[in-house]
Amino acid sequence: MTGSQPSPARVVLHPQFVVGTIDRRLFGTFVEHMGRGVYTGIFEPGHPSATAAGFRADVLELTRELGPTVARYPGGNFVSGYRWEDGVGPAAERPARLDLAWRSLETNEFGLNEFIEWSRLADVEPMLAVNLGTRGPQEAADLVEYTNHPSGSRLSELRRDHGYDAPHAVRVWCLGNEMDAEWQVGAKTAQEYGRLAAETAKLMRLVDPDIELVACGSSMRSMPTFAQWEAEVLEHCFDVVDYISMHAYVEEYDGDLPRFLASGVLMDRQIEQITATLDHVAARRRSDKTVDIAFDEWNVWFQEDFAGPQSLTFEHAPRLIEDTFDVAAALVVGTMLNSLIRHCDRVRIACQAQLVNVIGAIRSEPGGPAWRQSIFHPFAHVARCARGVALRPIVEGPVVEVDGLGEVPTLDVAATRDPDDGSVALFVVNRSVDSAADTDVDLSAFGPLRCLEHLELAADGDVRRANTAQDPEAVSPRQAAVPALHGGHLHVTVKPLSWNAIRLVPISTKE
Ligand code: AHR
Repeated sequence: MTGSQPSPARVVLHPQFVVGTIDRRLFGTFVEHMGRGVYTGIFEPGHPSATAAGFRADVLELTRELGPTVARYPGGNFVSGYRWEDGVGPAAERPARLDLAWRSLETNEFGLNEFIEWSRLADVEPMLAVNLGTRGPQEAADLVEYTNHPSGSRLSELRRDHGYDAPHAVRVWCLGNEMDAEWQVGAKTAQEYGRLAAETAKLMRLVDPDIELVACGSSMRSMPTFAQWEAEVLEHCFDVVDYISMHAYVEEYDGDLPRFLASGVLMDRQIEQITATLDHVAARRRSDKTVDIAFDEWNVWFQEDFAGPQSLTFEHAPRLIEDTFDVAAALVVGTMLNSLIRHCDRVRIACQAQLVNVIGAIRSEPGGPAWRQSIFHPFAHVARCARGVALRPIVEGPVVEVDGLGEVPTLDVAATRDPDDGSVALFVVNRSVDSAADTDVDLSAFGPLRCLEHLELAADGDVRRANTAQDPEAVSPRQAAVPALHGGHLHVTVKPLSWNAIRLVPISTKE
C-alpha cells in the first residue's frame, strides 16, 4: 500500500467557524438530451425494468441512492437549438429533429412532462433551461406559462389537455447555456447576451414572479471571456437575475496524477475569482443585492478522448463521452464536492454533469444492467451526510509541489454541522500517492461526540481500478474501523489516495 512513513496532520474544527448554511441544492445533477443520457439512460421503454411510463426502474433506484437534490434539464449545448413544444403532447405526433449541438437525431419521445414525472419519482427538484441560442424572450415566457401557470390561458390549458392539471411549479430556470462559447448554437457577445438575458428574465418573471433565474457565466476558467464576460453581462441583467452559472471539467493530462488530483484547487480559484467579480459589479452599482453562483456543470471529463461533435453523424442516442471513471477520478470528484461545501456561502446550487452514461455517475446498457461508477460514491456520501452549515476547517499537514499550481495541501478537507441534531460530518481526501496521514482532528469545542461511521474509498495500490458491467463493485467504499475520541480529539489514519466520509453525533444520540 505504501512505502513511506505516515505523515502527521492536524485538523481543527469549531462550531463557531461557520462558512454559511448549505443550500441542499448544492448536490444537484444534470440530465441532458445528449448521447445516452435520456434514451437508454433514464428512459427506455422495453427495458426489463421499465415502468409503465418507460422509465428505467434500475436507474431510478440508483438515482435515489445517489441522492441528488435537483436535476438540470434539457441541456447543456442541446438547449440552444431546442424547441420545447416538440417534446409535449401525444408522443406519436412529436417530430424528429436534427440536434445540431451534438449532431444527433432527437425523436422527442421524451420531453418536459416526462422529465417532470421522472424527477418526482427520483425525488429531485426539476431545474429547467430555456433556449437563448436560436430563440428569445417570447418562447421562454411561453414555456414558463405552459409549465407554471395554473389555468385559463392558452398554454396553461394546453398543459392541462396534455394531462397535467396542476402546474409543475418549477422554481429555478437557466437563461440559456454557455452563451460565450464559439461551439454554442447561437453564441453571443456579452453585450448581446446581457440584453437578451435581461429582457427574457423580465418576461419570464411577468409570467411567474416566484421563479429564480440563472444567467450564463463564461463557459470555463480558461476561456478568454472569463470574468470580463460576467462583469459585462451583469451590467445589463444584475437586477433581474439571482445567480450566475459556472462550469468546470477537469481531466488528467499526460498521466500527471498529482496535478489531476490537485484539480479541486482550480475550482476554489474559479469560485473565488467570480465571487470577486460579482461583488465588484455590485459595488459599482452601489447595490446591496448579492448575486450568487449556480455551479450547474462540474465533473471529471476526459475531453482529450472526444473527437468533438463534428465526428458525429445524426444517430439517435449515440454512445457519447461515456467515460469510465477510476479511483483517481473519484478522489478528484471528492475534492470538487469539498470545494463546493467550503464555498457554500456563495455557491447555492451545483449540478454534477451528468447523471447517466454521458460522463455519468451511473452507467447503463440498453436492455442490460445499470451500475455505479467510482464517482458515484463520494457524491452519495456528501449528499447524505453534508447537512446544516459548512465549517471552516483549519488544516495543518504536508504539502505537495504541483506543476503550475505551486504547493497544494495533501489533505483536502470539508466539514459540516447540523445545528438541529448536533451531528458533524468530515470529508477528507488524501492526495498523497504514497503516504498515509496520521490525523488528529480537534473536536473539543463541540462537547462530547462519538464517531458513528467512517466510510473509506481507497486506491489500496490500484488507483486505476474502475467499475464495469462485468465487475460493477470493483470500486466500492468500505466501512473502516470507527475511530474513538479521546479528550475531544479523533485520531484517524487516512490512507494514501483515499476518500473518507466520517460522521459524528453527540454522545447522547442513539442510532
Ligand atoms: O456536459 C456536456 C456539455 O458540456 C454540455 O452540453 C455543455 O454545456 C458543456 O460544454
